[in-house]
Amino acid sequence: MKHLLSTADLSKDEAVLLLDTAAQMAATQSREIKKLPTLRGRTVVNLFFEDSTRTRISFETAAKRLSADVINFSAKGSSVSKGESLKDTALTLHAMGADAVVVRHWASGAPYQLAHAGWLDAGVLNAGDGTHQHPTQALLDAYTIRRHLVGLRGGAGEGVGADLAGLRVAIVGDVLHSRVARANVALLHTLGAEVTLVAPPTLVPVGVETWPCAVSYHLDETLAEFRPDAVMMLRVQRERMSGGAGGFFPSPLEYTRYYGLDARRLARLADHAIVLHPGPMNRGLEISAEAADSDRAVIVEQVANGVAVRMAALYLLMAGEDSAEGNDL
Ligand code: CP
Repeated sequence: MKHLLSTADLSKDEAVLLLDTAAQMAATQSREIKKLPTLRGRTVVNLFFEDSTRTRISFETAAKRLSADVINFSAKGSSVSKGESLKDTALTLHAMGADAVVVRHWASGAPYQLAHAGWLDAGVLNAGDGTHQHPTQALLDAYTIRRHLVGLRGGAGEGVGADLAGLRVAIVGDVLHSRVARANVALLHTLGAEVTLVAPPTLVPVGVETWPCAVSYHLDETLAEFRPDAVMMLRVQRERMSGGAGGFFPSPLEYTRYYGLDARRLARLADHAIVLHPGPMNRGLEISAEAADSDRAVIVEQVANGVAVRMAALYLLMAGEDSAEGNDL
């Protein structure tokens, strides 16, 4: 296992191995001493060309809990703002002996280029690239869904060893701009879950009919007929909407009325159903405060699970290479 670039690259066995390793990592995090010696002497570089709170902090925490040395690089305040290229930035990291590079970039495909252009020897972990992929977000979502819902079908413990076969997941909102949606559709399909995307027609990508999921333009109808076990609300990404949100929906009020998760819709979910959101949330737009803070919401838990999942990814890429040497994860 060399790189983690896209959930579309993962086989079911690899995805389950990642989730099971994350469960093992999570178990170590309830100990008094949380730090493991696994990556002592190795260097992880967090290379962020786009803003992040959750992903950056949890990758840093994960690497430190595994005893790696961590270098945090933000494009703001670096020589990137003087025009330095991705290639020259990568060559600099190579010269400094990076063993793994966690990269978030506004350009779809930048992590793939870092992994395969020959500028670096390091493993590359995609922390979100443009509207393309966010594999560790999808893995932490799947981990959270499995923990909560697989036991309902007679699975063992927190679902260790299990896939998500038979579960129904609705992914709702700004699918067009969402790397989280793309990463989740691929991973949930691989793990055997059934997925329905719900969005206004203006926020559904061209070519979605080739994705392994159904598409609906009606949230109320989907909640009533699809009966999801998990509802994943997506952030409306106004920063990626040139011309403003008005080009994609008539008004925030109308978006909320047709596609927002509020107390009324929450009350119509099955008793066991959970609500996810990758964050950051637009409270009052795609999700009401009541829904975000309800007992069904596992949004804060998703953040905590992100540390265990990223520990698992770093471990399997940097210390577990004997299991599948030379391959992308
Ligand atoms: N979910 C997610 O990627 O959040 P950040 O942008 O805060 O990292």
